[in-house]
Amino acid sequence: MAGKLQVGLLFGGKSVEHEISLRSARNVYQHLDRSYFNPVLIGITKKGNWHLLEDIDQSIDSAPPLNLSLGHSRHTFPTVDQQGGTGLLDVIFPVLHGTDGEDGSIQGMLQSVNIPFAGSGVLGSSVAMDKLISKQLLKDAGIPTSKFIDLTGQDISKVSYEQIENILGLPFMVKPISLGSSVGISKVSSEQEYLKAIEESLQYDQGLLAEQYISGRELECAILGNTVPRASDPGEIIVSSKYEFYTYDAKYKDPHAVEIKVPAVLDHLIVEQIKDLSLRAYKVLRCEDFARVDLFLKDNQTIYINEINTIPGFTNSSMFPSLWAQHGISYSELITKILHLATERFESKKQLTRDYSGN
Ligand SMILES: Nc1ncnc2c1ncn2[C@@H]1O[C@H](COP(=O)(O)OP(=O)(O)O)[C@@H](O)[C@H]1O
Ligand SMILES: [Mg+2]
Repeated sequence: MAGKLQVGLLFGGKSVEHEISLRSARNVYQHLDRSYFNPVLIGITKKGNWHLLEDIDQSIDSAPPLNLSLGHSRHTFPTVDQQGGTGLLDVIFPVLHGTDGEDGSIQGMLQSVNIPFAGSGVLGSSVAMDKLISKQLLKDAGIPTSKFIDLTGQDISKVSYEQIENILGLPFMVKPISLGSSVGISKVSSEQEYLKAIEESLQYDQGLLAEQYISGRELECAILGNTVPRASDPGEIIVSSKYEFYTYDAKYKDPHAVEIKVPAVLDHLIVEQIKDLSLRAYKVLRCEDFARVDLFLKDNQTIYINEINTIPGFTNSSMFPSLWAQHGISYSELITKILHLATERFESKKQLTRDYSGN
């Protein structure tokens, strides 16, 4: 490779998952292979302001603000700091989770300024972030996913608790359509809980979804690649019985809430089915470079795809890097592979003709 690539690490963001992103970014920063890459730290505050950090432990607000200037001829992300210094980036790794980071909006902005970035593009990011659209697409493609009802907007008043109970059975889940980290999600077993769940969900999102509850094991499968993506063997999340499901607290607050098993102890045939379904789901939702597919496995061995995370957690204990570690890919090699996939994909798209003047 000619010279080291300037890698912009984007982290923080206007999301309820801001803190998680900081943790992931710190790890990516530490493991970034300095023989190929130079990190450039770009923190986004909870209000959405961009800052150029000198140090990963610096608070985002205290760093100089960053402006995006457009119109440069070279594919880059020209950033001008207050002192007038210009930084040219070769590729961006958005280590952002949730709203405005994982949902296609940042990806759209990066695409318009013509800079390569790691992970799914506008379409894959926005589709995977929307639990309703992604479930509809999975269902249409014949990929098993739990039954669901759209409760968005006026539909809430049209669908009674009894109707939902009749269709989905009890308990069922109520979720905001486009959030993550289990924020705003409830398990519902009575009408009273249902009303509370809706109120809770509506605090975070205007779109809501009710979903059939799947009682089973929670498995996760990592995907890497574009033309011929590869699936890892699945891992398992075993949530302590203290929790009703894999809640925000179980994910991030209580270090004893879960046991992560990599690889999950499963029949060889089930492993193959899970990998096959995960790869199909990844393609159907138009994911790129990498993603983590989350699934449920019932006692009767039925598999359901729960959701796809286009920017999964990258902390030391996160499932995504652990799933690749079992296949001999270290954290650092994983980041290198992802950044290579991103630049390769960008170069191959550049070959497309953008002018057409008829025959
Ligand atoms: N249909 C379901 N059946 C059983 N548990 C569910 C279901 N949907 C979600 N959960 C539980 O809620 C957690 C969070 O839901 P998920 O859809 O993955 O949202 P998020 O994007 O916030 O992670 C899951 O990890 C699981 O423990
Ligand atoms: Mg999830």
